[in-house]
Order: sequence, then structure tokens, then C-alpha cells
Amino acid sequence: MVTEYFTVNEKNIDSEETAEFLAHCKEIISEGGLVVFPTETVYGLGADALNGEAVKKIFTAKGRPADNPLIVHIADVKKADDVSSMTETERERFNKLAKAFWPGPLTMIVTKNESVPDAVTCGLGTVGIRLPENKYARKFIEAVGTPIAAPSANTSGKPSPTLASHVKEDMDGKVNAIIDGGACRVGLESTVIDLTGEVPCILRPGGVTLEMVKKILPEATQLAWKKEEQPKEDIEKPKSPGLKYKHYAPNAKVVILQGDSDTVAKRIAWALENARLRNAKAAAMITVEQKKYFSKEDNIVCMGKADDGETQAAKLFATLRDFDDCGITEVYATAMKEDGVGYAVMNRLYRAAGCLMVPCKKILFVCTGNTCRSFMAEYILKGLIEKRMAAGEIEACATEVSSAGVYAEDGGWPTENAVDVLKDIYEIDGSQHRATKVTAEILDKADLVLTMTAGHKRVLLGFFPEYADKVFTLAEKACGRDVEDPFAGSYKTYVDSAMHIEEMIVKAGL
Ligand code: TXA
Ligand code: MG
Repeated sequence: MVTEYFTVNEKNIDSEETAEFLAHCKEIISEGGLVVFPTETVYGLGADALNGEAVKKIFTAKGRPADNPLIVHIADVKKADDVSSMTETERERFNKLAKAFWPGPLTMIVTKNESVPDAVTCGLGTVGIRLPENKYARKFIEAVGTPIAAPSANTSGKPSPTLASHVKEDMDGKVNAIIDGGACRVGLESTVIDLTGEVPCILRPGGVTLEMVKKILPEATQLAWKKEEQPKEDIEKPKSPGLKYKHYAPNAKVVILQGDSDTVAKRIAWALENARLRNAKAAAMITVEQKKYFSKEDNIVCMGKADDGETQAAKLFATLRDFDDCGITEVYATAMKEDGVGYAVMNRLYRAAGCLMVPCKKILFVCTGNTCRSFMAEYILKGLIEKRMAAGEIEACATEVSSAGVYAEDGGWPTENAVDVLKDIYEIDGSQHRATKVTAEILDKADLVLTMTAGHKRVLLGFFPEYADKVFTLAEKACGRDVEDPFAGSYKTYVDSAMHIEEMIVKAGL
């Protein structure tokens, strides 16, 4: 099939040429064809919602699983009655939300009527309806004169298209026409809210947030989407079929790093550096505030300010697609603030990452002088992390390691035997290490403090009792025995000590 292209903009929207093309679209749609049109969220792949055969073609063009229902788009609120048969409660909720948020990025799920073919709803008794805000979308729907069933116009599983060029990549030759209306304002798909349940429930977060909906329907809730927050039955049988599919995924492996903004930025910078050493093509998605941690060589995309969910949303999918175009294989993304639209941004990013969101942990090893044991522990763990990253466990970069001593002399040199053992056995250069004395500031920044012996723990908590909840002995975490002091011992004593430390680090799952 040869795909026709047409560009609409402010200048030609009311022109005769546009009217002619829209009349042509009406023909295409009435003959059961497919037309891609712009909306304020993402581009939609449209067919006549009342023609089951036409709707089936959407599934083929996208490679979409057959049990994932489509949203029906209308250009006039009254047209909702053409596809629905709402209960009184649904009607009341629908009217209130339509008044507040339509036209706009909100899809409402209500009871369907018999005119909607099973192909649209995948056999469900409900239908999702949306009245887009985008002027070109409404013109198109008005012109064709029938409700339009349309999913996002991407190949299933790929990031949704926010530019006509994205649509072309996925849909050229598979659809009759593509209307190019420029960049989509919101950049993320609509909020999907189910109005048929006991309470209205947001199934997919989007530009219309729960806080906004609650102002109209205070009883509204939303589905949890982080794995650890989800009830088991929702994982097995999701309320919205679309939720169970891996989505928005670029070819690259995406890892989200979560934690304090500066720590995350430093870890991402380190991960990029590590990727360079491995000759891996890596990129990062960061916030404006984190930019200062990166150099010119780093392949970074600044997604906007930490609290600017709107800008992040508008950039997200295009950025993921650009990474694919550049052959990026690893993406390190900072977790965004989950406020407002940022919540929907994180939902999409989470799914692009295949739920791989790792908390940035700061581990601090503590001994007496920070010249033997805690020093070796720091470098051994750093070495293990580098090995894990080289083996493709890129989330290993989320751990930051340091060491200090309760009675250390700041700037003191490490013991020669410890430096030699690191070099000989682990091929690690620790010669630049200098001792650091434990301070409240250092403890404050650490997430987990591991002492070499119970004695260190006792002394440490004697000085700083307020950190009791994060101080453990390494032996406690590894179910092992304390690391004895090799100081003044032979080279062999240091070898044994290092191997003991390594074994416990592994056992403790660090
Ligand atoms: O912003 C948008 O919503 C875009 C533009 C084109 O309007 N469309 C879009 O469609 O994102 P799609 O098909 O990619 O996503 C529709 C989502 C899916 O997660 C689907 O499972 C859910 O809405 N959905 C549709 N009808 C449903 C129903 N009756 N019950 C539950 N979930 C439904
Ligand atoms: Mg989609």
C-alpha cells in the first residue's frame, strides 16, 4: 500500500486544499481504510469504530495483541451516546468529567452499546471514549462523520509517536494516509479512567492527574503500577488489558536510578564512564539540575527541570526513539518527581525500563584506621561492581562505595600489604587511597554502614548513637564471622583477610 502524506498547520487548516484532503479521508474511512491523525497526546491510528473489519486492520498494522481494546474518538460530547449505554452513575460521572476535562487528554470507560463491534472492545462490555483537544484531530473526526477507533500509531511495544516522522518509521506502507500536525503537545497518552466500578478508577495515568480528577470526583482512586505496590491479582489479571504488555520499550536496556538527585547524577556519570571503557553505546536521561555532573563526552538528554513534568512528558517518547536511531544499547535514566504529570512520566519510563528501577545505595565500610580492612572492602566491592557491569548487569552502577575509620588519621596512607594484595589478587590499584575519619556528615550520607567487627560497631554507635538503624557488622549481613585485624601481619594474613571480606560481601548480597 502506498501511504499518502498531508501536512496541516495554522495556515492551511481552513483552506480548500485541507477540506479536500479531509473529504478524501472520509472516503478512506468509509471504505474501511486507516488514517493516522495528530492528537494532543500522541498520534492515533484511526479506523471507523463502527466497522469491525476496518478495526481489525488496526491490529494487523500495529501487530497489537488481540485482547487489547481501542479507544473511540469523538468530536462532539453528544456522540458519546452513539457508542455507549451508560448507567445513571456512569452518566453522572461522565458529565462532570467531560465538562471539566473535554476536549482533552482523558479517556472515560463506560458501558458500551450494541453498535460497537467486538473488534473495538475485544469483547468487553465497556468502551473507552475520548474527545481530543487537538484542533486537527477534531476537524478530521468531524469530517469523516463517524466515531474513530484509534490506538497510538506505533508498532506495538515501541514508544508512542509524538511526531509524524515517528509514525512514518512504523506505519509507512501499512496505512492509507498520515496527517502530519506537528509535535504532540502533551507527549504521553491520555489518562484512562474507568467509570463503571464502585468508585471511578484511573487505569492509566496521563495529563489529567488524580488530583485534578479528585477535585471533580473526590472518591476517585488510581491503580498502582509499581510491582511492589500492586496487589497480586492485578499483576495476574490487570483491569486494563493494555497494562500487562511491555510497552514504550526502546531497543536499549533502560535502567532507572532512584534516590537523592546529586547521588543519582554521580552514579549515572560513572556508569557512562564505565560504558565508555567497555565500548558500549550508552546515554542518559537527566534533569537540568544534574547537568553539572556531566562532561561534553557524555551522551545526555536533559529532560527538563526535576519538577517540570510537562516538559519531561513532551520529550520522553521522542527521546527513547532517538536513542534507538543512534544505536544506543544502555540508557541510564534518573527517576523523576512523581508529582502532577511527572507521575505519568514515571509510569511510562518504568515500563520502558521493564520495571527496572534501582535505588542508589551508598555503602560505607568502617574499621579502625581505614588503612587495611575497610579500605580493602571498599576496593573489593568496587571491583565486583565493575565486573558485574562488564557482564552486562548495568544496574550494578547504582551502588556507591566508600570507607572510613573510627580512629583514622585523615590522609593516612594505606598499608603496603593491603595495596599489594589488591593489586596481586584483584588487579585493583588502591595506592591512591587515603584514610578518612568517620564523621556525622559521612554517616549521614550513607544508606548502609558496615563495620568489620562488633567492636567497631560498638565504638561507632558510642560516638554516633543516632545512626543505629543503618549500622551493621558485615558479619551480621553475611551470617559470617567478624574480620580480624591483619595489621602488622604477614602478606598471607592480608590475603586471608581480603578473601574473607570478599566472601562476606558476596554472601551479604552487596
Ligand atoms: O492518548 C491516547 O489515549 C491515544 C490517542 C491516540 O488518543 N490513544 C492510545 O490508545 O493511547 P492505546 O490503544 O495505545 O491505549 C488504550 C489503552 C490501553 O491500555 C487499553 O487497554 C485501554 O486504553 N482500554 C481501552 N478500552 C478499554 C476498556 N474498555 N476497558 C479497559 N481498558 C481499556
Ligand atoms: Mg499505545
